[in-house]
Amino acid sequence: MDKKKMLEMLNKALTMEHACYIRYLTHAAVLTGPYAEPVATRLKEIGQDEAGHAEKLRDRIVALGGTPTLEVEKAEGMMATELTKILAINIKEEESAIQMYQTILKEIPHDQETLLFETVEHILTDEMEHLEELTRLKG
Ligand SMILES: [Fe+2]
Ligand SMILES: [Fe+2]
Repeated sequence: MDKKKMLEMLNKALTMEHACYIRYLTHAAVLTGPYAEPVATRLKEIGQDEAGHAEKLRDRIVALGGTPTLEVEKAEGMMATELTKILAINIKEEESAIQMYQTILKEIPHDQETLLFETVEHILTDEMEHLEELTRLKG
């Protein structure tokens, strides 16, 4: 495993997680329409999952001798107040998160870097659950 490349990938994932956390909480705050309240509650919970992912990534970055980034991925085009639009945005973002973590996972040797591997795998599983849930909410 190329440590420098791995740190770059993990920090890129961290900038994305920062944005995910902000996006879910913002969407939860502005959401209007039928079922706004229960959906907003669920979006807030997903936002907390994303904050947890960021925390795990920071720990792995430090363990690898790196410095966790403060950067936040650009949020252009991410604002919406209507449920269908909010779901569409987050479905797309979850899909790209899944892709990103699948790429990272392929670079980690499971037997030598078990903790890192299983941490990323756990995050990937969460993102898959998020995608499944948002897709179901979309109907
Ligand atoms: Fe995440
Ligand atoms: Fe997610």
